Amino acid sequence: MLDVEVIRKDFPILDQIVNDEPLVYLDNAATTQKPLAVLEAINRYYERDNANVHRGVHTLAERATASYEAARETIRKFINAPSTKEVLFTRGTTTSLNWVARYAEEILTEGDQVLISIMEHHSNIIPWQEACRKTGAELVYVYLKDGALDMDDLRSKLTAKVKFVSLAHASNVLGVVNPIKEITQLAHQVGAIMVVDGAQSTPHMKIDVQDLDVDFFAFSGHKMAGPTGIGVLYGKEKYLEQMSPVEFGGEMIDFVYEQSASWKELPWKFEAGTPNMAGAIGLAAAVDYLESLGMDAIEAHEQELIAYVYPKLQEIEGLTIYGSQDLAQRSGVIAFNLGDLHPHDLATALDYEGVAVRAGHHCAQPLLQYLDVPATARASFYIYNTKADCDKLVDALLKTKEFFNGTF
Ligand SMILES: Cc1ncc(COP(=O)(O)O)c(C=O)c1O
Repeated sequence: MLDVEVIRKDFPILDQIVNDEPLVYLDNAATTQKPLAVLEAINRYYERDNANVHRGVHTLAERATASYEAARETIRKFINAPSTKEVLFTRGTTTSLNWVARYAEEILTEGDQVLISIMEHHSNIIPWQEACRKTGAELVYVYLKDGALDMDDLRSKLTAKVKFVSLAHASNVLGVVNPIKEITQLAHQVGAIMVVDGAQSTPHMKIDVQDLDVDFFAFSGHKMAGPTGIGVLYGKEKYLEQMSPVEFGGEMIDFVYEQSASWKELPWKFEAGTPNMAGAIGLAAAVDYLESLGMDAIEAHEQELIAYVYPKLQEIEGLTIYGSQDLAQRSGVIAFNLGDLHPHDLATALDYEGVAVRAGHHCAQPLLQYLDVPATARASFYIYNTKADCDKLVDALLKTKEFFNGTF
């Protein structure tokens, strides 16, 4: 069990009044708040150790390099990757998925297929659209059944033509968690490479890339109590060895001649230029923080909040909730609409009550087209949210409904 009152003290940003109401922050799927431990780690790095990594021999350069590489080891352990060679620092999930899709361009040819799902975030759609456009491969979608991934549809489309399967571990709109281990086994049976967008799962549950047996796994620091501008691409060594670097320049080279160059070994061949040292160190501090709470306890806490709030939301007449009703399949994300009120108006009304939720298409326009809604509001929960936050959300929705004369 998480001691949420203690946790909240680690997040000074939460202790503020917004529109005369105590802030209730429920926009965690967009980005999470950062604990003091992360802010202090970044500060400490800049106050004491800042220097460029992998080049200087002076003391600060050695300290900075050691901290940066220690951060990589912390991430390796966190996701149980076999080796730090397989842990690449990137700008975030978007960059990580773009790198994999660039690799796919080296492999795909006409007649091949890439299988994704209709619930993907744009960053797991557009890189594949581009890879398919350039190679003549076909982008094929798996659709939904009862608000979750339709596994029969997936099985029927997973043929030998499929060279890559790329799926969200948890949807940022529907909140559903996909059975990645099972899907990876199916993908491997037809010889496909399995790519996972872990942006919405890594912050909330234990990730073990060896147990999942995925070939690539992407996530972002800022959605898991870490800083912005840093993320990770895990890839199996056998693929990373084959994969060409995506960016070229300083740091990633072994030797450079007038007309050619050779690359450093993994993971550095992918990290061109001065990396985001403070970001990596901040992300490692976030991982230490989350692990001190326990990933299983974090997942259980969010499950408890969802089990508490979901039935209360269901009772609100005129509120449409998207995604599976089977709470066992859900993470801490709930997208909804209130009657025909525009979600932006709904989010503004909730903000008057101090409740911060996201409104819009959530970078998942194909999903919203499929659901036949232009936009939704979305509440998303994290380690510092309480049942009182859930009650405040429900009260604010009821007040909004009353304000608009309960006309839905
Ligand atoms: C499921 C999913 N994938 C990818 C992303 C992109 O993450 P980032 O913007 O950190 O690159 C997000 C962010 O909202 C997301 O929710």
